[in-house]
Amino acid sequence: MNILQVNSSARVFENGQGSHSTRLANELVGKLRAAEPGAQVTVRDLARQPHPALDEATLQALFTPAEARTAEQAARVALDDTLVAEIKAADVLVLGVPMYNFGVTSQLKNWIDAITRARVTFQYGPNGPEGLLKGKKAYAVLTRGGKYRGTPADSQVPYLKTLLGFIGITDVEFIYAEGLNMGPEAEAAGLAEARAQIDALLGVVPA
Ligand SMILES: Cc1cc2nc3c(=O)[nH]c(=O)nc-3n(C[C@H](O)[C@H](O)[C@H](O)COP(=O)(O)O)c2cc1C
Repeated sequence: MNILQVNSSARVFENGQGSHSTRLANELVGKLRAAEPGAQVTVRDLARQPHPALDEATLQALFTPAEARTAEQAARVALDDTLVAEIKAADVLVLGVPMYNFGVTSQLKNWIDAITRARVTFQYGPNGPEGLLKGKKAYAVLTRGGKYRGTPADSQVPYLKTLLGFIGITDVEFIYAEGLNMGPEAEAAGLAEARAQIDALLGVVPA
């Protein structure tokens, strides 16, 4: 089993400090590995290694045939190719998803813009779009300062469901850690609730 963990907080996780979403994603992956000791894990940490945004030069590079690209264009496309190869190789995808200004972080959006590629991860045919990343399972760990689960303000869940479904990933579990900026008690309760959701999803029996 290949697991791809994508950390998308701007906060670097170090010595137990920093990003809640990275901490919870680490815990989830740890539990997946405990159940499947042979699992290979790839961590794509977008805080430590930010991925560049999709700009005019990048579009030019992507739309230039490979044999006609300049060295600079080839290098830019190669950055995206690395992310595409990682998700293609994964059986399980674990996304750390902080809420920033009611959306996903710009780093997660840059990753999404890199891996959503025509004729590679999706294609259009006579029946409309078809996702090409089949047979994968995804977990998205959502961390929020407030509480928005199930409300119209939670644009992340419908967005990620649509996007992942578009590229073929339809088996997606959402784990919610909410109220993290609402004081120490709410923070502890939000994290405990997320950990309980992870254990329930993975069939972990509480100690
Ligand atoms: C720039 C920024 C924007 C944020 N916007 C929101 C928001 O729109 N709604 C919300 O509930 N929390 C918001 N928060 C709080 C984060 O969602 C919360 O701190 C969460 O723990 C972030 O995940 P992380 O700890 O993995 O970085 C924001 C935090 C930052 C730093």
